[in-house]
Amino acid sequence: MIDLKTKYLGLSLKNPLVASASALSKRASNVRKMEDAGISAVVMYSLFEEQITHDSLAFDYFMERGTDRFAESLDYFPDLDRYNVGPDEYLEQIRKYKEAVDIPIIGSLNGVSNSGWIEYANKIEEAGADALELNTYYIPTNLSITAEQLEDNYIELVRVVCANVNIPVAVKISPFLTALPNLISMFVGAGAEGAVLFNRFIQPDLDVENLEVDSTLQLSTSAELLLPLRWMALLYGRVDADLALTSGVHTGLDLVKSVMAGANVAMVASEFVANGVERAEDMLGEMVNWMTAYEYDSVEKMQGIMSQKNVENPAAFERANYMKALQSYDNRIA
Ligand SMILES: Cc1cc2nc3c(=O)[nH]c(=O)nc-3n(C[C@H](O)[C@H](O)[C@H](O)COP(=O)(O)O)c2cc1C
Repeated sequence: MIDLKTKYLGLSLKNPLVASASALSKRASNVRKMEDAGISAVVMYSLFEEQITHDSLAFDYFMERGTDRFAESLDYFPDLDRYNVGPDEYLEQIRKYKEAVDIPIIGSLNGVSNSGWIEYANKIEEAGADALELNTYYIPTNLSITAEQLEDNYIELVRVVCANVNIPVAVKISPFLTALPNLISMFVGAGAEGAVLFNRFIQPDLDVENLEVDSTLQLSTSAELLLPLRWMALLYGRVDADLALTSGVHTGLDLVKSVMAGANVAMVASEFVANGVERAEDMLGEMVNWMTAYEYDSVEKMQGIMSQKNVENPAAFERANYMKALQSYDNRIA
């Protein structure tokens, strides 16, 4: 019997496959389907700071320049007038989902300033969420904001949110931050119990004929798994936080890799958006088949066995392997 159980943010989960924050969780019917397909927990789509407060000074300070500079970048945030789910509806959805399903529901808040909207962390807890994910999606375009200021701002945000709630908090971060291990340990010091690696930034394309910026969201592929996989492997056992991997998990084998690198859970959005949440059942089946074939009897025993701490060649995850990797093409190029 294969034991898929794992722990994440103090929650006992039946397996490591979690639905990542996405528009799918806007409908109760999808959340029910997620539970039926075997998904072990659901992260709600994010409640945005802009949905809660339109006039936060701290928010303006951080965001103003980037959004004013290019009209197109205004698309970056939802059009608030058309965005039909306000904070009250969001809280009501959490309440309803908690009644409708038995799997844990994780709330998600998105913002960068630490002003009034943070009380919503507390409201999300009161609505019954089992944990909270803090989604720190922000592009620092302001020339005068330093990396240190940005990080201090994030750390303070985590501190204030964690001080407001009793449920566990995880921080979802971007890969475009320096000194990640240090930053994550600062988040832990500020009260976070988990880190979610990585937020997948939507990269606008250029429509050069119409001189327009195309911000259509492209879904991920398994090729994107390598970046979070590497950081998972580097961080496992070194930071005092549960680790969730997100970006590029599409198959049962991707799930196996995530766990072996060190993830407590793997969070999936693109695969479910593209092919339906029913894919979860196949993915879990593939994972079980793989574990059976290679004689692993539990996820717990598999977690982190291919992390940097546990592999024969730890340098493979670091710079030491960089030159070797580049040279691997020397004999292949005519
Ligand atoms: C349609 C869609 C909506 C998303 N909405 C959110 C969101 O509200 N909050 C958030 O933190 N991430 C959001 N994400 C990002 C996903 O949670 C996930 O971290 C990212 O897409 C990488 O996982 P994937 O490769 O499985 O898509 C969204 C992704 C998609 C595809």
